[in-house]
Amino acid sequence: MRRVENIADMQRLADTWRAGGERIAFVPTMGFLHEGHLDLLRTARKMGTKSVISIFVNPTQFAPTEDFESYPRDLGGDLDLATEVGTDAAFIPPVDEMYPEGFQTYVHVDRVTENLCGRSRPIFFRGVATVVCKLFHAVKPHISIFGQKDFQQLVTIKRMVKDMNMDIEIVGHPIVREKDGLAMSSRNTYLTQEQRPVALRLNRCLKEAQKLVDSGERNAEMILKAAGDLLTTGGGATVDYARLCNPDTIEDVEVISGPTLLALAVWVGKTRLIDNCLLKAIKN
Ligand code: PAF
Repeated sequence: MRRVENIADMQRLADTWRAGGERIAFVPTMGFLHEGHLDLLRTARKMGTKSVISIFVNPTQFAPTEDFESYPRDLGGDLDLATEVGTDAAFIPPVDEMYPEGFQTYVHVDRVTENLCGRSRPIFFRGVATVVCKLFHAVKPHISIFGQKDFQQLVTIKRMVKDMNMDIEIVGHPIVREKDGLAMSSRNTYLTQEQRPVALRLNRCLKEAQKLVDSGERNAEMILKAAGDLLTTGGGATVDYARLCNPDTIEDVEVISGPTLLALAVWVGKTRLIDNCLLKAIKN
């Protein structure tokens, strides 16, 4: 696997591949890779003829109070794992390569970023859209794959690509879970043994909500009340949000009539976990 640290070299490699008729499939990450990332990389290998991972902990998507400094990092381990799954190149720019002195241009995606994580992390999506835009210009992919765990991020990137006429196919990849149902996340490493069962409430909550819908419940308030109870009973968890949204617009819905996103963000101790599912309302 090639390691590329600067943007000009990455662009040259991408140009050479493109000139040779290769199809570049790209997985942007912040590293500390887990099975979920590896699944994205395997998918990239299948969907393209050259696969690229970026490993870059992006400072502009962290608020000053958040965990940028302490975000888990293991570049050596990540490069080994990416090599093992057959990735062709790793783009690993230093921070000052991506944000040199004088940097002052940001990408703002509007309405789809307002709800959910946009409420509690007001600068997050500006940072994500900006860095993904920059990574796209460096890697020049034909296709890029994002996990559905960050559902609002996926919708935001799709919106940016469409609105800015970027000729890139964006693919959403299903959430990869641990055996016990916890959605895989680099931040799971922060959880203590005692916090783990608390963290499992998120996935349970998604399943219970689908059961409620299956039994005929369509009222968002009722479903969210049950979700809130399930998440907090027993203590140890603080709900940042539990919301039912239209999966395209990310606007709240009051009544479930079609596929509806149930999105959760919950603090378990100092760890903020997110999870989601698309609730399906089968007519009964
Ligand atoms: O999902 C992530 O890991 C990050 O938000 C991304 C897309 C790599 C941008 O920094």
